Amino acid sequence: MLNPYWFARSALFGLEPEHAHDLTLRSLELARGTGSLRLLCGKPINDPVRLMGLTFRNRVGLAAGLDKNGAHIDAFDQMGFGFIEVGTVTPRPQSGNPKPRMFRLPQAQAVINRMGFNNQGLEQFLSNVKRARFRGVLGLNIGKNADTPIERALEDYLIGLNGVYPHASYVTINISSPNTKNLRDLQQADELAKMLAALKQRQTELTEQHKRYVPLALKIAPDLTEQQIVDIARLLSSSKFDAVIATNTSTSREAVAGLANAQETGGLSGAPILAASNQVIKRLRALLPAKFPIIGVGGVMSAADARSKIAAGADLVQLYTGLVYQGPKLIGDCAKALRARTD
Ligand code: FNR
Repeated sequence: MLNPYWFARSALFGLEPEHAHDLTLRSLELARGTGSLRLLCGKPINDPVRLMGLTFRNRVGLAAGLDKNGAHIDAFDQMGFGFIEVGTVTPRPQSGNPKPRMFRLPQAQAVINRMGFNNQGLEQFLSNVKRARFRGVLGLNIGKNADTPIERALEDYLIGLNGVYPHASYVTINISSPNTKNLRDLQQADELAKMLAALKQRQTELTEQHKRYVPLALKIAPDLTEQQIVDIARLLSSSKFDAVIATNTSTSREAVAGLANAQETGGLSGAPILAASNQVIKRLRALLPAKFPIIGVGGVMSAADARSKIAAGADLVQLYTGLVYQGPKLIGDCAKALRARTD
Protein backbone atom coordinates (compact mmCIF):
# COMPACT_ATOMS: atom_id res chain seq x y z
CA MET A 1 0.00 0.00 0.00
CA LEU A 2 1.19 3.53 -0.75
CA ASN A 3 2.68 5.25 2.27
CA PRO A 4 2.22 9.05 1.97
CA TYR A 5 5.42 9.57 4.00
CA TRP A 6 7.52 8.36 1.06
CA PHE A 7 7.00 11.70 -0.70
CA ALA A 8 8.38 13.56 2.32
CA ARG A 9 11.11 10.97 2.68
CA SER A 10 12.53 11.47 -0.78
CA ALA A 11 12.85 15.21 -0.01
CA LEU A 12 14.28 14.61 3.48
CA PHE A 13 16.80 12.04 2.21
CA GLY A 14 18.13 14.72 -0.14
CA LEU A 15 19.24 16.68 2.94
CA GLU A 16 22.13 16.10 5.30
CA PRO A 17 20.69 13.70 7.98
CA GLU A 18 20.94 15.98 11.01
CA HIS A 19 19.48 18.88 9.01
CA ALA A 20 16.59 16.60 7.94
CA HIS A 21 16.11 15.62 11.59
CA ASP A 22 15.92 19.26 12.77
CA LEU A 23 13.60 20.19 9.90
CA THR A 24 11.32 17.24 10.74
CA LEU A 25 11.04 18.33 14.38
CA ARG A 26 10.25 21.91 13.34
CA SER A 27 7.63 20.69 10.84
CA LEU A 28 6.02 18.43 13.45
CA GLU A 29 5.79 21.39 15.82
CA LEU A 30 4.16 23.53 13.11
CA ALA A 31 1.70 20.75 12.24
CA ARG A 32 0.87 20.32 15.93
CA GLY A 33 0.18 24.04 16.28
CA THR A 34 -2.31 23.98 13.41
CA GLY A 35 -3.97 20.75 14.57
CA SER A 36 -3.11 19.04 11.28
CA LEU A 37 -0.74 16.53 12.90
CA ARG A 38 -3.58 14.72 14.67
CA LEU A 39 -5.60 14.71 11.44
CA LEU A 40 -2.64 13.35 9.49
CA CYS A 41 -1.82 10.60 11.99
CA GLY A 42 -5.39 9.56 12.81
CA LYS A 43 -6.83 8.41 16.10
CA PRO A 44 -4.31 6.85 18.52
CA ILE A 45 -4.73 3.11 19.03
CA ASN A 46 -6.39 2.51 22.36
CA ASP A 47 -4.96 -0.68 23.90
CA PRO A 48 -4.29 0.06 27.58
CA VAL A 49 -1.50 -1.99 29.18
CA ARG A 50 -0.58 -1.97 32.89
CA LEU A 51 3.12 -2.27 33.65
CA MET A 52 5.40 -0.84 36.39
CA GLY A 53 2.25 0.48 38.06
CA LEU A 54 1.58 2.70 35.01
CA THR A 55 -1.10 2.56 32.32
CA PHE A 56 0.28 2.77 28.78
CA ARG A 57 -2.16 3.89 26.04
CA ASN A 58 -0.75 1.20 23.76
CA ARG A 59 2.44 -0.88 23.49
CA VAL A 60 4.37 1.37 21.10
CA GLY A 61 6.60 4.12 22.44
CA LEU A 62 9.01 6.75 21.16
CA ALA A 63 12.63 5.75 21.89
CA ALA A 64 15.03 8.18 23.54
CA GLY A 65 17.29 10.40 21.44
CA LEU A 66 14.82 11.75 18.90
CA ASP A 67 13.65 14.51 21.26
CA LYS A 68 16.76 15.01 23.38
CA ASN A 69 15.55 18.25 25.00
CA GLY A 70 11.96 17.19 25.63
CA ALA A 71 10.83 20.09 23.46
CA HIS A 72 8.27 18.26 21.27
CA ILE A 73 6.38 16.00 23.67
CA ASP A 74 2.91 17.22 22.64
CA ALA A 75 3.69 16.70 18.95
CA PHE A 76 4.71 13.09 19.59
CA ASP A 77 1.57 12.63 21.68
CA GLN A 78 -0.54 13.62 18.66
CA MET A 79 1.28 11.02 16.56
CA GLY A 80 -0.36 8.25 18.58
CA PHE A 81 2.46 6.82 20.66
CA GLY A 82 1.44 4.74 23.67
CA PHE A 83 4.24 6.36 25.66
CA ILE A 84 7.01 8.85 25.06
CA GLU A 85 10.64 8.80 26.20
CA VAL A 86 12.74 11.96 25.89
CA GLY A 87 16.42 12.73 26.59
CA THR A 88 19.16 11.72 27.08
CA VAL A 89 19.66 14.80 29.23
CA THR A 90 22.94 15.53 31.03
CA PRO A 91 23.28 17.82 34.08
CA ARG A 92 25.01 20.61 32.11
CA PRO A 93 24.39 21.59 28.46
CA GLN A 94 26.89 20.18 25.97
CA SER A 95 27.31 20.42 22.21
CA GLY A 96 28.13 16.77 21.50
CA ASN A 97 30.57 15.58 18.84
CA PRO A 98 31.58 17.61 15.78
CA LYS A 99 29.27 17.36 12.73
CA PRO A 100 28.65 15.37 10.61
CA ARG A 101 27.68 12.82 13.26
CA MET A 102 24.61 11.10 11.79
CA PHE A 103 24.73 8.88 8.68
CA ARG A 104 22.14 6.93 6.69
CA LEU A 105 22.71 3.45 5.26
CA PRO A 106 19.58 3.27 3.07
CA GLN A 107 20.23 -0.16 1.54
CA ALA A 108 20.24 -1.58 5.05
CA GLN A 109 17.45 0.65 6.47
CA ALA A 110 19.96 1.75 9.08
CA VAL A 111 21.54 4.79 10.70
CA ILE A 112 24.92 5.28 12.36
CA ASN A 113 25.14 8.12 14.87
CA ARG A 114 27.83 9.55 17.11
CA MET A 115 25.85 12.51 18.44
CA GLY A 116 27.49 12.32 21.88
CA PHE A 117 24.56 13.44 24.06
CA ASN A 118 24.18 16.88 22.49
CA ASN A 119 21.56 18.59 24.65
CA GLN A 120 20.63 21.86 26.33
CA GLY A 121 21.13 20.57 29.87
CA LEU A 122 18.85 19.65 32.76
CA GLU A 123 17.49 23.12 33.49
CA GLN A 124 16.17 23.77 29.96
CA PHE A 125 14.97 20.14 29.71
CA LEU A 126 12.86 20.52 32.86
CA SER A 127 11.37 23.79 31.71
CA ASN A 128 10.37 22.10 28.40
CA VAL A 129 8.91 19.07 30.17
CA LYS A 130 6.92 21.23 32.58
CA ARG A 131 5.43 23.16 29.65
CA ALA A 132 4.10 19.99 27.94
CA ARG A 133 0.39 19.24 28.27
CA PHE A 134 0.84 15.49 27.71
CA ARG A 135 -0.63 13.44 30.58
CA GLY A 136 0.29 9.95 29.35
CA VAL A 137 3.33 7.87 30.29
CA LEU A 138 6.47 10.01 29.98
CA GLY A 139 9.94 8.45 30.35
CA LEU A 140 12.80 10.81 31.15
CA ASN A 141 16.21 9.46 30.14
CA ILE A 142 19.34 10.63 31.99
CA GLY A 143 23.08 10.41 31.27
CA LYS A 144 26.43 11.88 32.23
CA ASN A 145 28.32 14.83 30.80
CA ALA A 146 31.26 13.97 28.53
CA ASP A 147 33.71 15.86 30.75
CA THR A 148 32.63 14.21 34.01
CA PRO A 149 35.26 11.54 34.77
CA ILE A 150 33.77 8.05 34.54
CA GLU A 151 34.67 7.43 38.23
CA ARG A 152 32.25 10.25 39.08
CA ALA A 153 29.46 9.17 36.72
CA LEU A 154 27.13 8.33 39.61
CA GLU A 155 27.14 11.99 40.72
CA ASP A 156 25.75 13.04 37.32
CA TYR A 157 23.08 10.32 37.41
CA LEU A 158 22.02 11.41 40.91
CA ILE A 159 21.79 15.06 39.79
CA GLY A 160 19.68 13.92 36.84
CA LEU A 161 17.46 11.69 38.97
CA ASN A 162 16.83 14.44 41.55
CA GLY A 163 15.86 16.85 38.77
CA VAL A 164 13.62 14.69 36.61
CA TYR A 165 11.99 12.58 39.34
CA PRO A 166 8.97 14.81 40.09
CA HIS A 167 8.14 15.14 36.36
CA ALA A 168 8.64 11.57 35.12
CA SER A 169 6.33 8.57 34.85
CA TYR A 170 9.53 6.49 34.78
CA VAL A 171 13.24 7.38 34.66
CA THR A 172 15.70 5.66 32.32
CA ILE A 173 19.33 5.29 33.35
CA ASN A 174 21.26 5.27 30.10
CA ILE A 175 24.63 3.54 30.49
CA SER A 176 24.77 2.12 26.98
CA SER A 177 25.54 4.90 24.51
CA PRO A 178 28.69 4.04 22.53
CA ASN A 179 29.35 7.77 22.01
CA THR A 180 30.42 8.81 25.52
CA LYS A 181 33.88 7.53 26.41
CA ASN A 182 33.86 4.50 28.76
CA LEU A 183 30.13 4.87 29.47
CA ARG A 184 29.34 1.27 28.61
CA ASP A 185 31.94 0.08 31.16
CA LEU A 186 29.26 0.95 33.74
CA GLN A 187 27.52 -2.23 32.56
CA GLN A 188 30.29 -4.34 34.19
CA ALA A 189 29.07 -6.21 37.27
CA ASP A 190 31.11 -4.41 39.98
CA GLU A 191 30.34 -0.92 38.71
CA LEU A 192 26.73 -1.76 37.98
CA ALA A 193 26.08 -3.22 41.44
CA LYS A 194 27.24 0.07 43.04
CA MET A 195 25.26 2.23 40.61
CA LEU A 196 22.00 0.33 40.93
CA ALA A 197 22.21 0.26 44.73
CA ALA A 198 22.87 4.02 44.94
CA LEU A 199 20.08 4.85 42.49
CA LYS A 200 17.57 2.65 44.34
CA GLN A 201 18.58 4.29 47.61
CA ARG A 202 17.97 7.73 46.12
CA GLN A 203 14.66 6.53 44.66
CA THR A 204 13.54 5.55 48.17
CA GLU A 205 14.45 9.01 49.49
CA LEU A 206 12.71 10.75 46.59
CA THR A 207 9.60 8.60 47.02
CA GLU A 208 9.37 9.83 50.59
CA GLN A 209 10.08 13.45 49.61
CA HIS A 210 7.57 13.60 46.72
CA LYS A 211 5.09 11.02 48.09
CA ARG A 212 5.24 9.23 44.74
CA TYR A 213 7.07 6.10 43.55
CA VAL A 214 8.68 6.61 40.13
CA PRO A 215 10.00 3.39 38.53
CA LEU A 216 13.61 3.16 37.32
CA ALA A 217 14.56 1.48 34.03
CA LEU A 218 18.09 0.52 32.94
CA LYS A 219 18.94 0.89 29.24
CA ILE A 220 21.53 -1.59 28.00
CA ALA A 221 23.58 -2.25 24.85
CA PRO A 222 23.08 -5.06 22.33
CA ASP A 223 26.82 -5.86 22.30
CA LEU A 224 27.05 -7.80 25.57
CA THR A 225 28.64 -11.16 26.31
CA GLU A 226 26.49 -13.95 27.74
CA GLN A 227 28.25 -13.45 31.10
CA GLN A 228 27.41 -9.72 31.08
CA ILE A 229 23.75 -10.45 30.34
CA VAL A 230 23.65 -12.99 33.18
CA ASP A 231 25.25 -10.45 35.58
CA ILE A 232 22.91 -7.65 34.50
CA ALA A 233 19.81 -9.84 34.95
CA ARG A 234 20.99 -10.92 38.42
CA LEU A 235 21.68 -7.32 39.51
CA LEU A 236 18.43 -5.93 38.08
CA SER A 237 16.55 -8.52 40.04
CA SER A 238 18.51 -8.34 43.32
CA SER A 239 18.46 -4.53 43.36
CA LYS A 240 14.70 -4.55 42.64
CA PHE A 241 15.13 -2.33 39.60
CA ASP A 242 11.78 -1.72 37.93
CA ALA A 243 12.45 -2.39 34.22
CA VAL A 244 15.07 -2.90 31.54
CA ILE A 245 15.20 -1.27 28.09
CA ALA A 246 16.95 -3.48 25.54
CA THR A 247 18.66 -2.25 23.46
CA ASN A 248 20.63 0.84 22.55
CA THR A 249 22.63 1.12 19.30
CA SER A 250 25.38 -1.33 18.32
CA THR A 251 29.11 -0.96 17.71
CA SER A 252 29.12 -4.11 15.57
CA ARG A 253 29.31 -3.66 11.79
CA GLU A 254 28.96 -7.34 10.88
CA ALA A 255 25.48 -6.91 9.40
CA VAL A 256 26.43 -3.87 7.26
CA ALA A 257 30.00 -4.68 6.19
CA GLY A 258 30.92 -3.16 2.82
CA LEU A 259 28.04 -0.66 2.67
CA ALA A 260 28.63 3.07 2.23
CA ASN A 261 29.01 4.79 5.65
CA ALA A 262 29.39 1.44 7.45
CA GLN A 263 32.90 2.44 8.54
CA GLU A 264 31.67 5.57 10.37
CA THR A 265 32.30 5.53 14.12
CA GLY A 266 29.22 5.44 16.34
CA GLY A 267 26.15 3.37 17.12
CA LEU A 268 24.32 1.39 14.46
CA SER A 269 20.51 1.34 14.60
CA GLY A 270 17.67 0.08 12.42
CA ALA A 271 17.02 -3.18 10.59
CA PRO A 272 20.53 -4.70 11.00
CA ILE A 273 20.28 -4.72 14.82
CA LEU A 274 16.86 -6.38 15.12
CA ALA A 275 18.21 -9.92 15.55
CA ALA A 276 20.92 -9.02 18.07
CA SER A 277 18.52 -6.87 20.13
CA ASN A 278 15.90 -9.62 20.13
CA GLN A 279 18.52 -12.12 21.25
CA VAL A 280 19.33 -9.94 24.29
CA ILE A 281 15.60 -9.68 25.07
CA LYS A 282 15.23 -13.48 24.84
CA ARG A 283 18.10 -14.07 27.26
CA LEU A 284 16.76 -11.45 29.68
CA ARG A 285 13.28 -12.98 29.57
CA ALA A 286 14.77 -16.38 30.43
CA LEU A 287 16.98 -15.03 33.23
CA LEU A 288 14.77 -12.40 34.90
CA PRO A 289 11.90 -13.16 37.26
CA ALA A 290 8.57 -13.76 35.50
CA LYS A 291 6.75 -10.48 34.77
CA PHE A 292 9.91 -8.34 35.09
CA PRO A 293 9.11 -5.49 32.63
CA ILE A 294 11.17 -5.49 29.43
CA ILE A 295 10.91 -2.66 26.92
CA GLY A 296 12.20 -3.89 23.55
CA VAL A 297 13.87 -1.50 21.12
CA GLY A 298 16.16 -1.93 18.12
CA GLY A 299 15.34 -2.47 14.48
CA VAL A 300 11.54 -2.29 14.47
CA MET A 301 10.77 -1.32 10.85
CA SER A 302 7.40 -3.09 10.48
CA ALA A 303 4.47 -4.54 12.42
CA ALA A 304 6.05 -7.99 12.03
CA ASP A 305 9.26 -6.73 13.68
CA ALA A 306 7.22 -5.32 16.57
CA ARG A 307 5.57 -8.74 16.98
CA SER A 308 9.00 -10.38 16.99
CA LYS A 309 10.00 -8.24 19.99
CA ILE A 310 6.92 -9.35 21.95
CA ALA A 311 7.58 -12.96 20.90
CA ALA A 312 11.17 -12.58 22.20
CA GLY A 313 9.75 -11.55 25.58
CA ALA A 314 9.28 -7.77 25.51
CA ASP A 315 6.17 -6.22 27.07
CA LEU A 316 6.39 -2.94 25.14
CA VAL A 317 8.36 -1.73 22.13
CA GLN A 318 9.97 1.56 21.15
CA LEU A 319 10.76 3.07 17.73
CA TYR A 320 13.40 5.39 16.38
CA THR A 321 15.11 4.47 13.08
CA GLY A 322 11.92 2.85 11.77
CA LEU A 323 10.32 6.32 11.84
CA VAL A 324 13.12 7.68 9.63
CA TYR A 325 12.45 5.01 6.99
CA GLN A 326 8.70 4.35 7.35
CA GLY A 327 7.31 7.58 8.82
CA PRO A 328 4.51 7.98 11.37
CA LYS A 329 2.30 5.24 9.85
CA LEU A 330 4.60 2.72 11.53
CA ILE A 331 3.31 3.76 14.98
CA GLY A 332 -0.33 2.79 14.31
CA ASP A 333 0.67 -0.28 12.27
CA CYS A 334 2.71 -1.65 15.18
CA ALA A 335 0.16 -0.67 17.85
CA LYS A 336 -2.61 -2.40 15.88
CA ALA A 337 -0.53 -5.53 15.33
CA LEU A 338 0.26 -5.80 19.03
CA ARG A 339 -3.35 -5.17 20.01
CA ALA A 340 -4.55 -7.83 17.58
CA ARG A 341 -2.19 -10.27 19.26
CA THR A 342 -4.01 -10.04 22.60
CA ASP A 343 -7.58 -9.77 21.25
C1 FNR B 1 19.68 7.19 19.61
N1 FNR B 1 19.43 6.44 20.76
C2 FNR B 1 19.52 7.04 21.99
N2 FNR B 1 19.24 6.32 23.13
C3 FNR B 1 19.28 6.89 24.34
O1 FNR B 1 19.00 6.23 25.35
N3 FNR B 1 19.64 8.20 24.46
C4 FNR B 1 19.95 8.99 23.39
O2 FNR B 1 20.24 10.18 23.54
C5 FNR B 1 19.91 8.39 22.11
N4 FNR B 1 20.23 9.11 20.98
C6 FNR B 1 20.08 8.55 19.73
C7 FNR B 1 20.31 9.31 18.59
C8 FNR B 1 20.14 8.76 17.32
C9 FNR B 1 20.40 9.60 16.09
C10 FNR B 1 19.72 7.40 17.19
C11 FNR B 1 19.51 6.76 15.82
C12 FNR B 1 19.49 6.63 18.32
C13 FNR B 1 19.11 4.98 20.67
C14 FNR B 1 17.66 4.72 20.42
O3 FNR B 1 16.84 5.16 21.49
C15 FNR B 1 17.42 3.19 20.22
O4 FNR B 1 17.74 2.52 21.41
C16 FNR B 1 18.26 2.62 19.08
O5 FNR B 1 18.34 3.51 18.01
C17 FNR B 1 17.70 1.29 18.56
O6 FNR B 1 16.39 1.44 18.07
P1 FNR B 1 16.04 1.67 16.51
O7 FNR B 1 16.55 3.02 16.15
O8 FNR B 1 16.75 0.59 15.75
O9 FNR B 1 14.56 1.58 16.46
